Amino acid sequence: MIRSINGATVVAGVVGRPVKHSLSPAIHNAWLAEAGLDGVYVPFGPPADGFSRFVEGLRGGVVRGLNVTLPFKEQALAAADEASAAAEAAGAANLLVFEPDGRIVADNTDGVGLLWAFRNQAPAFEPGGGVVTILGAGGAARGAAAAFILAGARQVRLVNRTLEKAEAIAQALGPDVRVFGWDQVEAALSGADALVNATSLGLDGKTTLDVELHALGAAAPVMDMVYRPLETPLLAQARRRGHPAVDGLEMLIGQAIPSFRAFFGAEPPAIDARGLVLTALGR
Ligand code: ATR
Repeated sequence: MIRSINGATVVAGVVGRPVKHSLSPAIHNAWLAEAGLDGVYVPFGPPADGFSRFVEGLRGGVVRGLNVTLPFKEQALAAADEASAAAEAAGAANLLVFEPDGRIVADNTDGVGLLWAFRNQAPAFEPGGGVVTILGAGGAARGAAAAFILAGARQVRLVNRTLEKAEAIAQALGPDVRVFGWDQVEAALSGADALVNATSLGLDGKTTLDVELHALGAAAPVMDMVYRPLETPLLAQARRRGHPAVDGLEMLIGQAIPSFRAFFGAEPPAIDARGLVLTALGR
């Protein structure tokens, strides 16, 4: 996969904890190989309290850039000297670029990835002017809410157990974001043009996301950011009911595209990134 590492090889990577299961190296290194570029993409897992030390050490461009995943996305924004509007709105960065002059520049391409996934898997959906319901109010939910607001959504509805967390996002993103408790989920789904699950329910193997979709319009796409398993119970229910289903894997690929451009200054080549990632996921 890696042809020859030398002094001119451009190094980029992903930083997270744990980082072992990240699918990003498989995507970026396959693109690099196909494009014949002199670059490499490496996973980094600094200690939980060592993120800022790690990033500070990279100032000047020893490493060209990093994707940032859990639990460091908020710290990544804080570590940067400059940030894009997308990163500011999300309150988090998934992309850091180390400029030769020492600056660290933050961006957030998760929103691009989210909208790319909708375009590919629910092409009839138009985020501009729409009403989008998001389940959750953690970092992933804030990122999704920010992406839809920046894309011109008329209203974003956040459904969360801890209302204060949803209210804090509404405070940051403005009056087009509304807050609902789980006891109001039916009202939050009613008349919505799309639904996104951004909770971590189901990820621990103990909890389950229990949401009944009958109040959601038949044409509204349903998206689940969870992609292990790829076909979550929510997406299975959505398909049964005839909703277009959008999955987290497509979002993962979608966020990688602008990241690759930022690191290597080239378009990702046209290979079957989804097939590749499905193989890496063990399907
Ligand atoms: P991330 O940064 O990946 O979004 P997070 O900040 O831990 O992760 O957010 C997890 C989301 O799942 C939150 O919206 C959380 O609800 P709370 O804000 O009320 O904690 C939601 N979530 C997780 N476990 C939950 C549970 N058992 N019941 C209801 N909501 C849950």
